[in-house]
Amino acid sequence: MEKIEKLEKVAFLGLGHMGAPMAGRLLAAGHPLTVWNRTAAKAAPLVTGGAVLAASPADAVRDADVVVTMLAGPAAVASVAADAVPAVRTGAHWVEMSTVGPDAVRELADRLGDRVTLARAPRSSWSPTPR
Ligand SMILES: NC(=O)c1ccc[n+]([C@@H]2O[C@H](COP(=O)([O-])OP(=O)(O)OC[C@H]3O[C@@H](n4cnc5c(N)ncnc54)[C@H](OP(=O)(O)O)[C@@H]3O)[C@@H](O)[C@H]2O)c1
Repeated sequence: MEKIEKLEKVAFLGLGHMGAPMAGRLLAAGHPLTVWNRTAAKAAPLVTGGAVLAASPADAVRDADVVVTMLAGPAAVASVAADAVPAVRTGAHWVEMSTVGPDAVRELADRLGDRVTLARAPRSSWSPTPR
């Protein structure tokens, strides 16, 4: 029997130096991808590659199985979450990758309640242990 693999629909919010290439990898892997960035022009290469550009964070997440935020800091996360959280569907998963402290993550978790699972996966600086 033919195996049918369904890839999750991903909404990616924040297409800065980190977010844009990460979103590109998701697109290359075949995920249906909707993107949003405060400066919409930065989404152009991803749209050319097949991503859908949303007009707002809420529009980006409405249909998503997985939401990824990769934003500058706590204020950006709070601002984006205020718009997006009411629109995210129950049962979705939210991966918060911005480098923000526990207070910002707790605030996001409180907004999401138990409708949406939240994974914290900040990009932190890493350097190899000297040998
Ligand atoms: N770059 C690195 O090597 C590195 C390493 C470790 C950790 N990090 C962390 O990773 C995260 C992203 O870094 P980055 O290098 O991608 O930063 P970046 O290039 O400055 O991108 C920041 C993103 O946040 C958005 N943003 C900023 N303020 C906003 C607001 N008020 N509302 C909505 N969106 C807002 C920006 O939108 P616009 O495009 O409109 O400005 C952009 O999409 C940060 O938390 C950073 O500390 C980065």
